[in-house]
Amino acid sequence: MTVGPADALCWFGASGDLAYKKTFPALYEMVRRDGLEVPIVGVASSGWTVDDLRQRGRDSLAEHVDDADPDVVERLLGLLSYVDGDYAEASTFEALRAELDRVGASAPAHYLAVPPVLFGTVVRALGASGCDAGARVVVEKPFGADLASAKALNDVLHEVFAEEDIFRIDHYLGKGEVINLSFLRFANTFLEPIWNRDHVAGVQITMAEDFGVEGRGRFYDAVGCLRDVVENHLMQVVALLAMEPPVGPGIDAWRDEKERVFRAVEPLSRDRLVRGQFTGFLDEPGVAAGSDTETFAAVRLQVDTWRWGGVPWCIRAGKHLPVHATEVVVSLKRPPQIVFPGLEDASHTNHVRFRLAPDPQMAISVQTLHPSPGELPTGVWRELTVGEDVKDERTPYERLLGEALAGDPELFTREDGVEAAWAIVDPVLADRDPVLPYEPGTWGPAEADRLVEDLGGWKDPLDGDADSDG
Ligand code: BG6
Repeated sequence: MTVGPADALCWFGASGDLAYKKTFPALYEMVRRDGLEVPIVGVASSGWTVDDLRQRGRDSLAEHVDDADPDVVERLLGLLSYVDGDYAEASTFEALRAELDRVGASAPAHYLAVPPVLFGTVVRALGASGCDAGARVVVEKPFGADLASAKALNDVLHEVFAEEDIFRIDHYLGKGEVINLSFLRFANTFLEPIWNRDHVAGVQITMAEDFGVEGRGRFYDAVGCLRDVVENHLMQVVALLAMEPPVGPGIDAWRDEKERVFRAVEPLSRDRLVRGQFTGFLDEPGVAAGSDTETFAAVRLQVDTWRWGGVPWCIRAGKHLPVHATEVVVSLKRPPQIVFPGLEDASHTNHVRFRLAPDPQMAISVQTLHPSPGELPTGVWRELTVGEDVKDERTPYERLLGEALAGDPELFTREDGVEAAWAIVDPVLADRDPVLPYEPGTWGPAEADRLVEDLGGWKDPLDGDADSDG
């Protein structure tokens, strides 16, 4: 079911950082590629005028879009208007109501790119001012800070909006390479027969960033790696890889299956979590003295279903790791018998690898005969790889804002799914071991290796596993 196309975009937080870095470039592409022409009402409390917002747009596009087409830039800036005011004041929303009337909008999309503490204030004010009429709401991450706050946020949203009118953003779901995970699984037949506990020894997901918190010290210190990327982005990746095929048409069939995965994951306990903090984090501006916030997290999960029973799902993510790359490695079991002497080495098995960043790729590893005549047969590992040129692909924000304006819920999370994902990490938000230090440029604390001992260690992304002797 869709709620139909929106006829205006109300952009809360239009003067902010996300707007500058991601939203203006996304809107530019939406105008260029899709001829976006709905009015865009910027809302902020910066004391700006519409001219300030337009200037901000010009600056953003000059910095973030290569060879921006001046006509497209002017078309986008021409769609903008601006309402300035404090979100706690009713007058701000009266002014917004008047602006919506002026531009003739009866089905606006309210996009809340504001700090989460303001979600409730803005949503209730939208309701009180009548700005909710015919409207939908698009909510940025982070969606809550734990299970209780996510539930409370859902309750506030539902005071004003029906579930079908709520679009919760997890920008990972707008990435082509993430969407491709379910495409690769369900648009082909070759994976399905091996995609289960009989053939899979373990699944590892590594999201490595070779940079730090980049001026976001205050935000990051309050959040930490587990909440920032594991509970949301990487759990979505788990769901897409572990879910059953959707039954029947419609987006709820997909969401139902994803939600079942989350419900099947046993909530984390402290022995299945290792947290690290890079040396130097405490000197970042905005980070509290003695902070115990993790900049690295590694977890080991079980998806307790008939398909996945007993298969470990191990996730690690962190800042200041050696590379910037995200990969999934699905390791297959060893052959049941060694019929070629000399191939006893257990450190390599067949795997299916999905690279999500930097360049999307899928690979299947194969052991083939080493071309060395006269000797005992030895193996060499090769990868069969598939990759697509993604130069002109839509960015996640272009895709997500486009779908929210179109009223298509496909790439957004549903209330029960969000809460079920929080339920997995909730116990270790309170009950956990202190962070362990690690040096920038390393793979986090060595203690994390304990989680994957039975899987032959962590599979580092981009490590050239493709070609190695076995
Ligand atoms: C964001 C996190 O949600 O995702 C960041 O807040 C992280 O800390 C980012 O760097 C990673 O997303 P992407 O799309 O750059 O891989």
